[in-house]
Amino acid sequence: MHFTSLTDRTDTEYLAIIDIAMRLKRDKRRDDSARGRVLGLLFFNPSLRTKVSFETAAAHLGAVSSIISPGQGSWTLETEMGAVMDGNKTEHIKEAVQVLSQYVDALGVRSFSSLKNKDADHAEAVLNRIREYATVPVINMESAMEHPCQGLADWMTLRELFKDQLTGKRLVLTWAPHPSPLPMAVPNSVLDMASRSGMDVTLACPKEMVPDTGVISRARANCAWHASEFRIEQDQLRALEGADVVVAKSWAAPLVYEDPEVEQRLRWETNRHWTLTGGKMAHTNDAYVMHCLPVRRNVVVADEVLDSPRAAHIQEAGNRLHVQNAILRTLWDLPY
Ligand code: CP
Repeated sequence: MHFTSLTDRTDTEYLAIIDIAMRLKRDKRRDDSARGRVLGLLFFNPSLRTKVSFETAAAHLGAVSSIISPGQGSWTLETEMGAVMDGNKTEHIKEAVQVLSQYVDALGVRSFSSLKNKDADHAEAVLNRIREYATVPVINMESAMEHPCQGLADWMTLRELFKDQLTGKRLVLTWAPHPSPLPMAVPNSVLDMASRSGMDVTLACPKEMVPDTGVISRARANCAWHASEFRIEQDQLRALEGADVVVAKSWAAPLVYEDPEVEQRLRWETNRHWTLTGGKMAHTNDAYVMHCLPVRRNVVVADEVLDSPRAAHIQEAGNRLHVQNAILRTLWDLPY
């Protein structure tokens, strides 16, 4: 009943959601099938795409949305269990989520990793606590470890780009430098999604950036099941050879939890040359380029790549709207 992880449902169920999203996009469908329903959107972190695309999806269904931004017009929220709330947090999620569940028909939650407590991040502690207290469907709008709405929009975009012929196509997820340490949610969802799509998948990153999460073994197992290839490359140019689509993304080294200063040097100095440039793209099979956005131009991806006819990041962001409309229809059991 929730939509919180790409591991919650089968490939067939996700493909069915994407099929609905593709039909919604084709038909420019708007109806009143969710009239009277309310979508709560709880944002612990900023957003452009997720916020507006969920509000728009709700409007296209005849539902209304209510944004809750703790500390910005709403009370600050404590997420730790057993906390002595003598600091700047006013209300606990234990009360807030039970209360919100009486007002809304589904609750979207954005709660990024703090990159401070590895065990809590890997266990999806905040998202799971919210799931525990919610009595309505919870939608993961990007948690510590996953961004499943982005993953499904990416899967839909790949199906569009390659006219549903993903088998035998090579997707390269390449790491890129960034001034701030970013969480693993998006790269995890890219690897989960791509390895389930039947594509050959290459993870390209400096050796210090290889994720230490379960995503690598999941991706290997998914690719083995599809008889596709999964490999990790530390040489970016070799990884890009023959790529059909390149997904660029920055993330922090696993070392961020133990030694943030060394991690910062690795990410922002040692490996600064990993920016995705036009020269590097020349090694690919005239690949498409994707990025979940927001993207730092000429740091993560160079202008000439983002402005090229093979850039698919705007189409990718547009598909968030249709996928999320399809997710809401599925969770609310609405016809299409
Ligand atoms: N890709 C994505 O989730 O964008 P926002 O952070 O702007 O919502």
